[in-house]
Amino acid sequence: MERSKLKSLLAELTLDEKIGQLVQLSGEFYNASDISLGPQRKLGITQRTVDLSGSVLNVVGAENIRAVQKDHLQKSKHAIPLLFMADIVYGYRTIYPIPIGMGSSWNPELIQKAYKSTAEEAYAGGVHVTFAPMVDLVRDPRWGRTLESTGEDPYLNSQFAKAMVNGFQFGLNEGKGIASCVKHFAAYGAAEAGREYNSADMSLVNLYQNYLPAYKAAVKAGAKMVMTSLSTLNGVPSTADRWLIQDVLRKQWGFEGVVISDYASVFELIQHGFAKDAVDAAGKALQAGVDIDMKSPCYAQGLQPLLEDGKLSIDKIDDAVWRVLTLKNNLGLFENPYRGASSELEKTTILTESKRKVARQVSRESLVLLKNDNDILPLNIKDNKSVALIGPYSSEKELLGLWAVHGDRQATVTFEDGIREYLGEKLNVAKGTDIIRDVAFFDQSGMIPGLAKKVISSDEIESDNFKSALATANEADIIIFTCGEHTMQSGEAGSRTKLRLPENQMRLFNALVQTNKPIITVVVSGRPLILSEVAEKSQALIQAWFPGTEGGHALADIIFGKTNPSGRLSMSMPFNEGQLPMSYNYLSTGRPERTSQHVGRFVSRYIDAPTKPLYSFGYGLSYGKVRYHDLQCVNNIQKSGFLEVSIKIDNVGKYDRDEVVQVYIHDIEASIVQPIRRLIDFKKVHIRTGESRAVNFLIDKNKLGFYDQQGNFRVEPGRFKLFVGKSSEDTLEENFVL
Ligand code: NOJ
Repeated sequence: MERSKLKSLLAELTLDEKIGQLVQLSGEFYNASDISLGPQRKLGITQRTVDLSGSVLNVVGAENIRAVQKDHLQKSKHAIPLLFMADIVYGYRTIYPIPIGMGSSWNPELIQKAYKSTAEEAYAGGVHVTFAPMVDLVRDPRWGRTLESTGEDPYLNSQFAKAMVNGFQFGLNEGKGIASCVKHFAAYGAAEAGREYNSADMSLVNLYQNYLPAYKAAVKAGAKMVMTSLSTLNGVPSTADRWLIQDVLRKQWGFEGVVISDYASVFELIQHGFAKDAVDAAGKALQAGVDIDMKSPCYAQGLQPLLEDGKLSIDKIDDAVWRVLTLKNNLGLFENPYRGASSELEKTTILTESKRKVARQVSRESLVLLKNDNDILPLNIKDNKSVALIGPYSSEKELLGLWAVHGDRQATVTFEDGIREYLGEKLNVAKGTDIIRDVAFFDQSGMIPGLAKKVISSDEIESDNFKSALATANEADIIIFTCGEHTMQSGEAGSRTKLRLPENQMRLFNALVQTNKPIITVVVSGRPLILSEVAEKSQALIQAWFPGTEGGHALADIIFGKTNPSGRLSMSMPFNEGQLPMSYNYLSTGRPERTSQHVGRFVSRYIDAPTKPLYSFGYGLSYGKVRYHDLQCVNNIQKSGFLEVSIKIDNVGKYDRDEVVQVYIHDIEASIVQPIRRLIDFKKVHIRTGESRAVNFLIDKNKLGFYDQQGNFRVEPGRFKLFVGKSSEDTLEENFVL
């Protein structure tokens, strides 16, 4: 529709029709199946509000969506189509590894491909907007939503944010793809003590330097929408934070799209103690810049009285409605309200071989080999050793993680399926124990009533499982032990204080250790767990995250060496919970552990645990051996604006491999104390066995800059250290002056 026509449409709307465009309800109000998580209260919404509302949450599937849209258009005086928005976070029906796993791929190009594939599936399923990417930086794995983040580094997260938006929105202007809504603005991942929905409190330096860059990258990549967070930032709920939405997002970053609240977060302004009632909450959120009120009664009930009392101007409402109508128009909905929704297209697009192929590749690159003593991996089928696959995740289909809400669970390739493709009948499998045997945990989770009964075996079965696992182990030459968190132990509202494997799994593991057979441990989890004991007692350790639909194939490809592992952690793996929160890029202290003039006690460290994590950011093993040497750095900044860095890498092992070459700096003298090191660039390069190659980087001068206490960006002259290598801890060093 032409802009002038859209303007006329806006002018024709009555006040309640306008307000309707700013209200989002979930499928239950449209008699459609709805699977949104969260409180399902009807919130006093009237039928009139339903008929007028402008968008729908988490209704998916071509048939479903066509029916709701058709019905709505018939009732709608101006035939304004509904926008269908859904949580397509890391896959639609074909599910990829959870984002903390994608982070380990260090391969934004591949992730862009994965999100493009996802958008194709969701498009066919009728979705218009996805509530993704979730780009909240996280330093505390106690937070359950660590699962949805690509990790602890602002630079790496920004690369992924951009890739994800580009993937989702590929072809958007030509009527393809789906629009992206980046979330949760801002600093939702900094919830104090890792407790879900808790407050974030931080300096402007920290906010600008670490937490904002990934949102900014998503906005600069063209994300059409932004979702506010459920939390407060420095005492102000993000859903009513004028400074965040108007100054930072709109003025500083030039964002012109739609801002939506998170689920009921306008209403929750009351509970925060920030608004006195629903009317006040509506006013505060709209004035701050929130266009759409997701699943709360506030805009529907509160905007009209505010207008009548002269507390709100119609221009404010018009601006918000204009942005919503513009998005609908840009998606072509006035011409084709059903857009991609097509059962035919669903059949030819969803879970196809080519979609699975991408998922398998992402999954392979997300697995991180953390330990490989005596090169026990890869296993050689020709050795004819007998392999036992033992543990509760061995034949488990639930490898998708909590936020794969629309994923097809039946389509999952289990670890057993994958390994059997290599070993056939020679593989022996035993479950050994349940994932978790804590009835209280399931009963309190408030999600699926009666789940405990379904997933926890009787004591008798459990004891039989345990015995038969030990018998299987005793007959094997090598044990692959699969373990991990239950799906419900991570994800939204999945905060935990103890990040260990459930006791029953540890009991089984320790019994397996007693057999003295080599153990290859595979960990499934939504966050870095505390693996200190497990790592010590295993010969090999693979962090598999929730690896998605193709997880079983990917694991087998790695175990048997069809793929050389290349995953590198995008989040530190702590030694114990007491170290949390932690990140590799902490600020230099006046008393560093190793280089202080003080000796003994009075340095920055713990007296009962290491200062360092068990496995550091950027760490991960591959098969074979490489040598990094000849780090060189040519400072051409004055002339060209770039620092030229090069390093040589020799593959001296017997396997081709992918190296993630990482570049860090430390600013030695700055007006704001700087991190001991921080990532400024990286490349994933393929190096064949016997090959020796140079890897070059052109580092833009601006990558050396930082934010000051007022949030201003500056690049300061002075001395720097440059580190290039295999992880944040394993690097070669050079100096340069700016
Ligand atoms: C609440 C979650 O915080 C958000 O991430 C999600 O997009 C909405 N619910 C909608 O399901």
